[in-house]
Amino acid sequence: MTTEEQTPEDKPELKISETPAPRKPKQDRTPENDPGLWRMGRKNFFSYSAWLAFFGFIGISTIGTLRMMFPRILFEPTKKFKVGLPNDYVLGEVSEKYIEKGIWIIREVTGFYALIAICTHLGCTPRWLPTEEKFKCPCHGSGYYKNGVNFEGPTPRPLERASISITEDGEIEVDLSIKFLYEKGEWGKEGSYFGFTA
Ligand code: FES
Repeated sequence: MTTEEQTPEDKPELKISETPAPRKPKQDRTPENDPGLWRMGRKNFFSYSAWLAFFGFIGISTIGTLRMMFPRILFEPTKKFKVGLPNDYVLGEVSEKYIEKGIWIIREVTGFYALIAICTHLGCTPRWLPTEEKFKCPCHGSGYYKNGVNFEGPTPRPLERASISITEDGEIEVDLSIKFLYEKGEWGKEGSYFGFTA
């Protein structure tokens, strides 16, 4: 007899067990004790650690690159600057036009000099008192003549002068990085003064 000729009764009977093997319960802890998402095996732990290390590395590299693109540079104000034409200044006057840059420009009959507005006692900023024709420090009372020489108070020495010169285009230029000290005999040096008569 061929396969087609078999009747359903002739086919071997499939035996199905009536009591299936017990399945392992998915939840083997009480809800109160189950850590849920944080429950992980050793394998998962290493996998998470590896990903964490990877993203940490990427993050640190990115921060490093960004810092390289924006270096921390301290932009200091320039110490060399132009202060206008000689005839912008009145003869005999102490000009406070550039006091915010820390300088007084003084025009005399024979030329110009620039005094640095820092008291040589402890570094306060003196004030120019035009009626008394002197610089007076508000901190401890040191006083200086118009030429910068000290005459009263605790300061031990005159004000300092900054380099002053005239450029090719006829403007006055001051350089605060070059100083001239009276006590060192530097007030006669080139740069401490420039001659100008008009
Ligand atoms: S800081 Fe100017 S007198 Fe002391």
